[in-house]
Amino acid sequence: MVNPAGRHFLQIPGPSNVPDRVLRAMDMPTIDHRGPGFADLTRELIAGMQRVFKTSADVVIFPASGTGAWEAALVNTLSPGDRVLMFETGQFATLWRGIATDLGLEVDFVPGDWRHGVDPQALEARLRADSEQQIKAVMVVHNETSTGVTSRIADIRRAIDASGHVALLMVDTISSLGSIDYRHDEWQVDVTVGGSQKGLMLPPGLSFNAISAKALAASATSTLPCAYWNWQSMIKSNQTGYFPYTPATNLLYALRESLQMLLDEQGLDAVFARHQRHAEATRRAVRAWGLEILCQNPAEYSASLTAILLPDGQDADRLRQIILERYDMSLGTGLGKVQGKVFRIGHLGDFNDLTLIGTLGGVEMGLANAGIPFSRGGVDAALDYLAGNP
Ligand SMILES: Cc1ncc(COP(=O)(O)O)c(C=O)c1O
Repeated sequence: MVNPAGRHFLQIPGPSNVPDRVLRAMDMPTIDHRGPGFADLTRELIAGMQRVFKTSADVVIFPASGTGAWEAALVNTLSPGDRVLMFETGQFATLWRGIATDLGLEVDFVPGDWRHGVDPQALEARLRADSEQQIKAVMVVHNETSTGVTSRIADIRRAIDASGHVALLMVDTISSLGSIDYRHDEWQVDVTVGGSQKGLMLPPGLSFNAISAKALAASATSTLPCAYWNWQSMIKSNQTGYFPYTPATNLLYALRESLQMLLDEQGLDAVFARHQRHAEATRRAVRAWGLEILCQNPAEYSASLTAILLPDGQDADRLRQIILERYDMSLGTGLGKVQGKVFRIGHLGDFNDLTLIGTLGGVEMGLANAGIPFSRGGVDAALDYLAGNP
């Protein structure tokens, strides 16, 4: 039985904790989404999201979870039988591949070990080998939420350019947007997919596409069936300040508040630095415990979550269950191929030093309770790092 006193610690890598300010912003009467006041809200939100995506291109907001925005990216730009190139970085790349396959696309899925991001050299070689330019899109998950590995999009862009290939670049930023530096325009990404429930600190239910001019041009000729997700009708309505269907009104209030928190108070760079600092403190704790970080390339460590491997024979879900029951803290489960082998600590969104120390304290106590061989001192290592690097 979970102790009901105090706040639940929701330290999964999203949905993340929703700040009280954002909760209060949602707690408002619903307004007429076709009334006169609504257009200003729409315009303000699109401008704010352009700043978060670092783009001046079109951004659309769907009343949908991230999976909807994944689908939207594909059905707006591609045609049945088109070839796309993906890399098996983890569970979310695997799921996005599934959607592409279900839609009738031919997916070249480069196998991976779930401990590394997309290899830019391997990408370049694949594209060079496609001399007839049959690959229509490269689809990458920026931050693999299942593994805590962040692929290097700037290097991926360079690899595509070096190959001379014209494929579209589509990037899923669902667990990086608002937590890890991301530049839609500078990296010439064609479609960026985002979601509300992680770095943006909102409940689940909104998702986004940022759309380059090249992707918009592709949408004029693509023939995959596309109705609800249609960019053209969304962009046309948005230009008047409205939506082609009922938007998630109260979530939009929440988005206005979280954008204000991210952009106006601290600025995005400060938000990214905070995430990096907490990720580093977490990794120091993991090393002090004598446990292994799933991500094997330090250049690809995720700033929004850390996935931790347990020694062979230890059950990560049992550890999570003990921590939930004794300390009322939810940690991320191992997904897909790493189920039972890893647990994930989310350190993203509305999160500060003391949240991290509470989280690591719960893990350290749980490791002892579960009888898992480890060294004490993880929390101390994190404390030293945080205190020494304010
Ligand atoms: C990287 C990534 N992509 C896609 C998704 C799917 O989004 P949703 O569950 O909101 O549909 C998730 C969800 O956690 C994710 O982390």
